Amino acid sequence: MLQFYEPEQDHGTPAITSAESVSLSIDGQTVTVPAGTSVMRAAAEAGVKVPRLCATDSLEPFGSCRVCMVEIDGMKGYPASCTTPVREDMVVHTQTGKLAGLRRNVMELYISDHPLDCLTCPTNGDCELQDTAGELGLREVRYGFDGANHLTAPKDMSNPYFTFDASKCIVCSRCVRACEETQGTFALTIQGRGFDSTVSAGQDEAFMDSECVSCGACVKACPTATLTENTIIDHGKPEHSVVTTCAYCGVGCAFRAELKGSTVVRMTPHKDGKANEGHACVKGRFAFGYATHKDRITEPMIRDSIDEPWRMVSWEEAIGYTAQRFREIQHKYGRNSIGAISSSRCTNEEVYLVQKLVRAGFGNNNIDTCARVCHSPTGYGLKTTLGESAGTQEFSSVAQTDVVMVMGSNPTEAHPVFGSRLKKRLREGAKLIVIDPRGIELVDAPHVHADYHLAVNPGANVAILNAMAHVIVTEGLHDETFIRERCDSAQFKQWFGFIKDPRHSPEALEVATGVPANTLRAAATLFATGGNAAIYYGLGVTEHSQGSTAVMGIANLAMLTGNVGREGVGVNPMRGQNNVQGSCDMGSFPHELPGYRHLSDASTRQLFEREWNVELDPEPGMRIPNMFDSAIDGDFRGLYCQGEDVAQSDPNTQHIQAALSALDCLVVQDIFLNETAKYAHVFLPGSSFLEKNGTFTNAERRISPVRKVMPAMAGKEDWEVTRDLANAMGCPMNYTHPSQIMDEIARLTPTFHGVSYKKLDELGSIQWPCNAQHPDGTPTMHVDEFVRGKGFFALTEYVATDERANRRFPLLLTTGRILSQYNVGAQTRRTANSAWHPEDTLEIHPHDAEERGVVEGDWVGIQSRVGNTVLRACISERVRPGVVYTTFHHPLSGANVITTDNSDWATNCPEYKVTAVQVNRVSEPSAWQARQQQFDRRQQELLDSALPE
Ligand code: SF4
Ligand code: SF4
Ligand code: SF4
Ligand code: FES
Repeated sequence: MLQFYEPEQDHGTPAITSAESVSLSIDGQTVTVPAGTSVMRAAAEAGVKVPRLCATDSLEPFGSCRVCMVEIDGMKGYPASCTTPVREDMVVHTQTGKLAGLRRNVMELYISDHPLDCLTCPTNGDCELQDTAGELGLREVRYGFDGANHLTAPKDMSNPYFTFDASKCIVCSRCVRACEETQGTFALTIQGRGFDSTVSAGQDEAFMDSECVSCGACVKACPTATLTENTIIDHGKPEHSVVTTCAYCGVGCAFRAELKGSTVVRMTPHKDGKANEGHACVKGRFAFGYATHKDRITEPMIRDSIDEPWRMVSWEEAIGYTAQRFREIQHKYGRNSIGAISSSRCTNEEVYLVQKLVRAGFGNNNIDTCARVCHSPTGYGLKTTLGESAGTQEFSSVAQTDVVMVMGSNPTEAHPVFGSRLKKRLREGAKLIVIDPRGIELVDAPHVHADYHLAVNPGANVAILNAMAHVIVTEGLHDETFIRERCDSAQFKQWFGFIKDPRHSPEALEVATGVPANTLRAAATLFATGGNAAIYYGLGVTEHSQGSTAVMGIANLAMLTGNVGREGVGVNPMRGQNNVQGSCDMGSFPHELPGYRHLSDASTRQLFEREWNVELDPEPGMRIPNMFDSAIDGDFRGLYCQGEDVAQSDPNTQHIQAALSALDCLVVQDIFLNETAKYAHVFLPGSSFLEKNGTFTNAERRISPVRKVMPAMAGKEDWEVTRDLANAMGCPMNYTHPSQIMDEIARLTPTFHGVSYKKLDELGSIQWPCNAQHPDGTPTMHVDEFVRGKGFFALTEYVATDERANRRFPLLLTTGRILSQYNVGAQTRRTANSAWHPEDTLEIHPHDAEERGVVEGDWVGIQSRVGNTVLRACISERVRPGVVYTTFHHPLSGANVITTDNSDWATNCPEYKVTAVQVNRVSEPSAWQARQQQFDRRQQELLDSALPE
């Protein structure tokens, strides 16, 4: 749906929801709007545009510019239409001779202190100030430019993505309000008064030195060229736009990709996007340059051994070579000797095809996905307790929440647009409980403070959840009616006996949790009695040896307090990658067909067997860790890895490297030669999200369209490559468009029966289940009953992890993400986002640092029982004594060289969040880092020799 570029419609002030409506007359037209609506918005809804400068419908009205004045019968003067609410029978005049003159006078004052360089201005033709001057018929400026003015005010070009040209500022304060209301960062202020008023970042700092997180909300809100994207300064106004979905995190923001020809000149967050409602973060908004980075490999390559140079070949040869190698391996080592890993960055349609290729083409079920190493415990835990492997709410539900519990999740860094929504609700007065070993931003942000921060010891999540449930039960704070009506009563009885045992009391668990018992009691009481309570959790819950148990503990807490099945409550896993929900939905796990249906179910198998015309193996295949172990044992020999960088992202790097090196044929499909591809024999060039059609499914189960805005640089979209490989392996696939793949998914998957590209075009996005019972999708799940029928209180015995601090490894390392970088960093490291996070560092508490003689910026060696690496120290009180923290965005940091292969008992999700380590001052990189650097150099040479001059 390519459209000529038009700015998004703006009604001037936000929409109001009210059961009461009001009718009034505007320029002789009768208009009916919800009570509380502004006169400006009512006029806009009637098709009457009142001129404005300081108002925009993403922000509360402010009433500073006075350009929007109107006449209202019976009211004195000329009220501002943006701040005047409608009244029944009001009679409004927006266009009179008097108003025209007054508005022109106001405009004249603005223009007298504004450069008249429209023809050479970067936003010429896309500027509200210019448009408004035109609408008002301004023909002269009587005041001249000789007096005091701001025309020579300096530019701030410190931010790599946008420029602040103060000479063009009209001090409408839209930017300041956007930073406060939309983003919640409070980085901007208006300094000075009257004529001296100016916009300032921080304490009169450059944007890059201030608290600014580069979300771009101020840039979007600015009605002039004062805040402008550098791409617009460089390329000019876009010509057309296409609505698509961000390819970074699980929030799934909708964007208008704005283009000149096939060059993206701006990504504007889409107002109608239900996940983001016009907001975005620095990644989706600005970090799209990786898609056309010079490191993109756009031709297929093959080599017989990883010590040989790559050879560029045709698609035909690469596909033929792969199919032949895979068939030879299967012939020699058996059907189960090959498998695939699907990508949570690729579309649903692409993931579906990879699992189909494995089941129908390879003839086994050796398919797994990155969710194995992130949210597989969510799948297990929520399916067991509630009956469905997905979050229960839509993001907007948080606006109805009274108590928010955030556990092992750092929304302002990892899910920033949801983080902004959450902060807004907290500023409105909702209470906040944070459970995290580290003081994340939400604990103490501008105008947001956690009521309780339970700084749990890494590895003790289940203990803390049990202790909370114990307090609620023993103090009689549970919701008996909900439990009686909605939950399995025999199971609840058993659980009740289990949880009220004194061994689960906060006092008994105080040493394990590290949280004072009285604080924990107070937090549990708030959760149970504070009104609508919602839980948002992340990888700090799942990536543990008891990850699945903790997810079940979370579901227990929600059911226990009756907080499931309506707006404002629920259990919400914050999904990491853009399509990790979708990749799980599409049958990427070795034991499940699409829609989370177990392979052992013969009737489900038959459905697929009929559609695919094959017989399916009823035995679950290998999970990723099993594939690697089996590769080292010599049984697993061939792997097709699409859009996943296991060599960097999976734990115990040296083990993974050994497994990859042992493979006879590793096929990597990606846009860059990532760490895994350095061990590959076949490289199939991938396509970025801008180069293909398809869908992503976000953390709210929202299926959103991904639309092609430029041709695929390698000539094929990812789904076409899998299709061609399947055909070459004798597994027929005849799709000519991804919509046909979605039609097949819908035919075979009950929760997707109602999904089609036509419906997605009509509705914009759809939350599954979407079928005959829920034709437009399902924003809130488990409304009248749980998907499994009765809610199941699972017994959640706390078992301490084997990974404990001891004399040799006295500190516990935990890991997480940072806002500007994304996962393995392959995309964001190739953008200006690296200005914010050029390297991973080790956060260490001042006490632990001092004990080791470590000062800020020192190189420190981090030794675990499986490996060691070297990072720079960052002394911080965000972590408590005994805990150290790092991110994992740079390959040479080697964060995963030290993480162990401990894993969740139910799903094998690795225990990334707890590694016992020792930290010491050192003076040189680790032996692994030195070896890796050498290996990287060699692989780069082998690549360079294949690239055209
Ligand atoms: S920078 Fe833009 S939005 Fe901010 S006050 Fe100036 S003109 Fe208004
Ligand atoms: S980019 Fe975002 S964080 Fe930075 S000043 Fe603008 S609104 Fe605030
Ligand atoms: S919050 Fe996530 S989906 Fe939204 S723009 Fe940022 S990275 Fe993209
Ligand atoms: S738009 Fe109403 S006062 Fe500025």
